[in-house]
Amino acid sequence: MNVLASYNIKGGVGKTASAVNLAFVAARTGARVLVVDLDPQGAATFYFRIKPKVKGGGKGLVSGKRDLGDLIKGTDYDGVDLVPADFSFRNLDLLLDAEKKSKKKLAKLLKPLANEYDFILLDCPPSMSLVSEAVFHAADALIVPLIPTTLSLRTYEQLQAFRAEEKLANLTLLPFFSMVDRRKTMHRDIIDRFPDDHAEALTTHIPYASVVERMGTERAPLGAFAPRTAAAAAYETLWAEIVSRLG
Ligand SMILES: Nc1ncnc2c1ncn2[C@@H]1O[C@H](COP(=O)(O)OP(=O)(O)OP(=O)(O)O)[C@@H](O)[C@H]1O
Ligand SMILES: [Mg+2]
Repeated sequence: MNVLASYNIKGGVGKTASAVNLAFVAARTGARVLVVDLDPQGAATFYFRIKPKVKGGGKGLVSGKRDLGDLIKGTDYDGVDLVPADFSFRNLDLLLDAEKKSKKKLAKLLKPLANEYDFILLDCPPSMSLVSEAVFHAADALIVPLIPTTLSLRTYEQLQAFRAEEKLANLTLLPFFSMVDRRKTMHRDIIDRFPDDHAEALTTHIPYASVVERMGTERAPLGAFAPRTAAAAAYETLWAEIVSRLG
């Protein structure tokens, strides 16, 4: 089992779009995939047309009263299951803080699922919090969507610094550019220069495309309603690249 987290400190960069589309693509290749929606906004849950409600809420999970396995729902897609979000997840930080070994908690919750799934994809809220730290301990790799702007790169450097500080040497960072508009000089320049200092960067880019926004009205992964678009193809290539990197 590989645990991947779609993560960025910044909001609105394509974390959820990536988690949902990559889960769909991975399942199409025959993998068994579980998406865990850790964001109380519940966007991934919405895209999969599942009710954002978890029995016992965040408290049940963190306290150990509920197994993560009991909360799994099937989706409309073969091979993709989901642990939906719950509005109470907005308090996950406080709940974790009250626990011993809070940073290891999520890894512990995921462990019993190791034989059932090839990939677990965590859709993370935009923040740097105790929840994020628990994610960093649970994940083998972070897939980090970056919009090609200066500020976006700055938050990525902060993430790298944090990883070094916390001695998370086993955590692989897989940054890639998302919402790319090649007509913009700044986008082109940043994309060209980034790999010079970041050998870890994935080479696949996700283009800015209104069909990705349509996921909200279709309430489905891109591959399910617009498989023959450039954006859907980009997510397929991105997934192949991620898998080859994981080795
Ligand atoms: N490649 C893309 N092209 C155009 N729009 C996109 C693309 N990727 C995502 N979007 C749109 O941008 C918005 C933010 O995307 P998304 O929800 O995936 O980001 P996020 O990082 O998960 O945001 P949050 O931090 O709020 O969780 C959504 O409305 C989504 O439809
Ligand atoms: Mg999101």
